[in-house]
Amino acid sequence: MIARPLNPFPHSKHTTHPTGMTDRIIPIVPRSTALQLPDAEPGHGQSRLDTAGGLADRLGRPLRDLRISVTDRCNFRCVYCMPRSVFDASYPFLSRGELLSFEEITRLAAIFKTQGVEKIRLTGGEPLLRKNIERLITMLAPLELDLTLTTNGSLLASKAKALRSAGLKRVTVSLDALDEATFRAMNDADFPVSKVLQGIDAAAAAGLSPIKINMVVKRGLNDAGIVAMARHFKGSGHIVRFIEFMDVGTTNGWRMDDVVPSSEVVQRISAQMTLLPAAPQYPGEVAQRWRYADGSGEVGVISSVTQAFCRSCTRARLSTEGRLYTCLFAEAGYDLRVLLRDGADDARLADAIARIWQVRSDRYSEIRTSETSSQRKVEMSYIGG
Ligand code: GTP
Ligand code: 5AD
Ligand code: SF4
Ligand code: SF4
Repeated sequence: MIARPLNPFPHSKHTTHPTGMTDRIIPIVPRSTALQLPDAEPGHGQSRLDTAGGLADRLGRPLRDLRISVTDRCNFRCVYCMPRSVFDASYPFLSRGELLSFEEITRLAAIFKTQGVEKIRLTGGEPLLRKNIERLITMLAPLELDLTLTTNGSLLASKAKALRSAGLKRVTVSLDALDEATFRAMNDADFPVSKVLQGIDAAAAAGLSPIKINMVVKRGLNDAGIVAMARHFKGSGHIVRFIEFMDVGTTNGWRMDDVVPSSEVVQRISAQMTLLPAAPQYPGEVAQRWRYADGSGEVGVISSVTQAFCRSCTRARLSTEGRLYTCLFAEAGYDLRVLLRDGADDARLADAIARIWQVRSDRYSEIRTSETSSQRKVEMSYIGG
């Protein structure tokens, strides 16, 4: 057992009374402590392996995919992710010293590779806001993993070439509407559609493909634009994925009534353009694929609410300050930074990762109810998409 002092979770808004008492006013992300590293389990430990001999969690799922959040900041205030009323000028974003350095991230990534990770996705917040992100990509590229990044596209036009030269292979761009007023209402930062489209074009010209476009669908807000989005990118080689609005975090006011089920998305598109189901490209793919019958490409739907995919979830998430989360809906993570900064060697870090993965039993989306949706959960802008 590695005994560590409990660390306060940084993301809570507090006011201090003249009495010195602290009073929480908005439960943004609850004050939460880092989880204690689990002991090696008697009779299990390194022996919990999947059929291929790699690490497996309590439900037999391997560790394959690492999402690394490189900043908790964003220049957008998407209503479903960072509502401006909460993420305002007084929001306690992480300070520079709290962030993992590029050297720390790269070291951890290499260790995760030894534990089975094959794909790394850089996320945020908005990852292109992290200063010199190209340098991190240059450092990660030699690991020869499927290296990708999720961005809101706002800085892509100017950065695409440099990202490609640094060794990035592909990108996923969030774009929630083509209609100008709807897009601006959703990003709540007055950001125009045309700039994101320019970013997508620049990414394509730089060879960052295949490009995936993520559209979070919220009923009554942007669902009228589903077919237009599909049509716009049909034949472009880019893959649009329609994502069910999820109850991540505690601030986005999620209600089941706002979710447009993927089955409805597919129906609406196929009423205009014939779609045929397509097989997954790899085991545990999050998106269900549909291809156009006329051969002009494909779309995907991501149905975390109506058709949970926890059973095949191979994803771990590393927060900006080095906490390891084993589920997007977790309340707390394990503090790897404290180990890094205490001088742990690679073997100790690998052992910590293995133990954490081996006790994992998360399956939030499978057990979601109206009660769980109001549970304390980490914010998506902090842990990444
Ligand atoms: P590819 O590597 O391109 O196949 O990416 P991906 O299919 O893993 O998709 P991406 O990383 O772009 O994720 C798309 C969206 O799916 C995310 O922004 C989330 O909204 C949702 N998502 C991804 N992973 C999870 C997950 O583990 N749980 C849940 N509930 N949703 C997820
Ligand atoms: N529901 C579904 N997806 C979300 N994202 C952020 N918040 C939500 C939410 N509430 C995802 C989107 C976006 C990425 C950065 O995070 O896919 O493209
Ligand atoms: Fe920023 Fe992406 Fe969240 Fe929008 S969804 S606020 S672009 S991190
Ligand atoms: Fe994985 Fe948690 Fe998402 Fe289920 S809810 S797919 S366990 S991250």
